[in-house]
Amino acid sequence: MKKLGLLCALASASLFMASYAQTNVNKRVEDLLSKMTLEEKIGQMNQVSFFAVDDKAIAQYSDDDMDTFLVRMGIAGGQGQKKPSEMTKQEKIALIRSEASKMLDKNFTEPIRKGKIGSLLNIVDPEMVNKLQAAALKESRLGIPMIIGRDVIHGFKTIFPIPLGQAASFDPQLVEDGARIAAIEARSTGVNWTFAPMLDISRDARWGRIAESLGEDPYLGGVLGAAMVKGFQGNGNLADPNAIAACVKHFIGYGAAEGGRDYNSTNIPPMLLRNVYLPPFHAAIEAGAATLMTSFNDNDGIPASANSYLLKNVLRDEWKFDGFVVSDWASMTEMIAHGYAKDGKQVAELSANGGVDMEMVSGVYLQYLPELVKEGKVSMSTIDNAVRNILRVKFQMGLFENPYVDTKKPSVLYATNHLKAARQAAIESAILLKNENKTLPLSETKKIAIIGPMADAPHDQLGTWVFDGDKNYTVTPIGALKGDYKHINYVYEPALGYSRDKSTANFEKAKQAAANADVAIVFLGEEAILSGEAHSLSNINLIGVQSDLLKAVKSAGKPVVLVIMAGRPLTIERDLPYADAVLYNFHPGTMGGPAILDLLFGKANPSGKLPVTFVREVGQIPMYYNHNNTGRPAPEKVMTLDEIELEAGQTSLGNTSFYLDSGKNPLYPFGYGLSYSSFEYSNLVLSSTSIPMNGRLTVAVTIKNTSNTDGTEVVQLYIQDKVGSIVRPVKELKGFQRINLKAGETKTVQFELTTNNFAFYNKDLVKKAEKGDFNVWVGGNSNADLKGTFSVTE
Ligand code: NOJ
Repeated sequence: MKKLGLLCALASASLFMASYAQTNVNKRVEDLLSKMTLEEKIGQMNQVSFFAVDDKAIAQYSDDDMDTFLVRMGIAGGQGQKKPSEMTKQEKIALIRSEASKMLDKNFTEPIRKGKIGSLLNIVDPEMVNKLQAAALKESRLGIPMIIGRDVIHGFKTIFPIPLGQAASFDPQLVEDGARIAAIEARSTGVNWTFAPMLDISRDARWGRIAESLGEDPYLGGVLGAAMVKGFQGNGNLADPNAIAACVKHFIGYGAAEGGRDYNSTNIPPMLLRNVYLPPFHAAIEAGAATLMTSFNDNDGIPASANSYLLKNVLRDEWKFDGFVVSDWASMTEMIAHGYAKDGKQVAELSANGGVDMEMVSGVYLQYLPELVKEGKVSMSTIDNAVRNILRVKFQMGLFENPYVDTKKPSVLYATNHLKAARQAAIESAILLKNENKTLPLSETKKIAIIGPMADAPHDQLGTWVFDGDKNYTVTPIGALKGDYKHINYVYEPALGYSRDKSTANFEKAKQAAANADVAIVFLGEEAILSGEAHSLSNINLIGVQSDLLKAVKSAGKPVVLVIMAGRPLTIERDLPYADAVLYNFHPGTMGGPAILDLLFGKANPSGKLPVTFVREVGQIPMYYNHNNTGRPAPEKVMTLDEIELEAGQTSLGNTSFYLDSGKNPLYPFGYGLSYSSFEYSNLVLSSTSIPMNGRLTVAVTIKNTSNTDGTEVVQLYIQDKVGSIVRPVKELKGFQRINLKAGETKTVQFELTTNNFAFYNKDLVKKAEKGDFNVWVGGNSNADLKGTFSVTE
């Protein structure tokens, strides 16, 4: 009792401290705001992209880049100036070098001193960060620090699997730890804000940015998105000097781009938006995400950067978000191309009034807000609120107290424990899709032929959105065979130089290598550049002649293990007959090589599960597990093209919903993934067959590891609301747990559900559970068939 009293006292003391700190922040915000001129306020709303003009940067400029740069910077091509075409490369370099410090002053130091820049992005040089931050703190009138943004998407230097891969781990702790490490590394170079996590629901593998997503499921996306936010933000302590602010993006609907073509329009109706696209954002905001980014797309005709209903009514009024909203890169000015605004001035008006607090790179706030305020088109209180939101985050982050990078600290980049965590993340992110005749794990005494362009692709293995990771630190499978696995007897015949290489000249050599070995491991996939932003594909088969290479290797008659590294779920059905085992890795990052070998040789047991449905044919897209039922669901067995009789009667095929050529099922369902162990599910027990509204239901299930290999299983719970006031999905994930089971071990796993888990937004856009009957399934993927039923009563 005494103990309880003490705990309560401690809890209320810490609540008091937290709320005191909060009041203090708000007071500091108001004090500062009261001293600011309109120009200084607008400066806080302006974000500028840094560019370096040092020798390293110059060395990377192509001739064209240099010419554009010289003209853009006004140092060539203008009146009285030489044209770039009249200059030698050496002259151009000399000119850029001599102008470098003037350019730095003109573009950055001067405007910072004048309070015109609230945030920089893309600056990762600690000395430069300190120099510019000092200009903000010591030389601007009010000394407001800048918030420094960067795309730290799946690691900073130590690269973790792409987010889609991390999602396959179904392991929130792993995802949180990865984000923590990314934050520690990034912060050590001066970055204090990341544009992550990306929480766009992605149901279309053609869309290149599916790589950056956490998959197709709102529940999984919410749980893992919240974990990432916690990892980045120091588990709730934004002021931790090792934390960076998170930015949930892209608000909203971006992943539903029509046809998977990046930046395209979306057409998500209100209930779908509420029930599928918004929940991961809400979960991440509940977890404390400090900032949010608007998206490029228009949804149903309204560009996201001017959608005041979502940015104000939903985000602020309903969700009580008190961080700040940043636009995407020029997403505001792109409203001109959308045909929603006629010029930059109207853009600034629409976005400021729409609820965007900070503008990324195009400068329209800086340019037009002063006159818009004077004309009364944007009110002073709108400006004040935006600035409050930005300053609040800066105070919460402790930037006023701790603005500089400690350049004397020993480097934390690529620290041993970071590399170890990246290896574990790559292990947990790999999905075993096929394992005929227990081809895997391989015995270390086997003679192995290593084939394929992804076996030693240090750049491509890292995946998309790697601005800072260095491929020289990547350990590829071949690298691991020269390191931890140097005792393995192997030959290496890449056969193709890269994934798009179309030369079949070395196929015969690859076949011979396989013929001379006990087993062939074929590493295929996609180069990093084939997924990510603006990298959509309309054909998602293994690119180039990779499928032919696989066939050639298989024709040698030896067991073939196919290892894929890709940025998206590819359509691999046609490749399956030529592989005895398939291990799928969404680009696995710096430590992908050793992680994959750990799995292939049985040092680790696969446990990854698909965070997205794998379709058989690209034409099946969109296909996702949590779809609504049609009025004519297809039966278990559907007619295939070859079975249709000549001149068959119009209605003889059954008139249900499926493709005549590719049927009704995907290749692999959401949640699917094999293990070297086998698991048996039994004994589904519900605490009750009926629960009252606001009641609780416990669902217990027994899982046995029926193999003689220790393993990990992701136990998944799905529900279905059988009859709703709007049509409900056929299945929805509502819980998952990763459990370790020793060989032969049995465990009982329990899930607790409340009616909140059954609630959904109805046609009045009110979130409510409805009484009625429900199905519940527990199993190892979304086709789980161990089923129970219960009802919810008044
Ligand atoms: C555009 C991308 O859409 C966004 O995700 C990213 O954070 C910004 N550029 C900044 O690089």
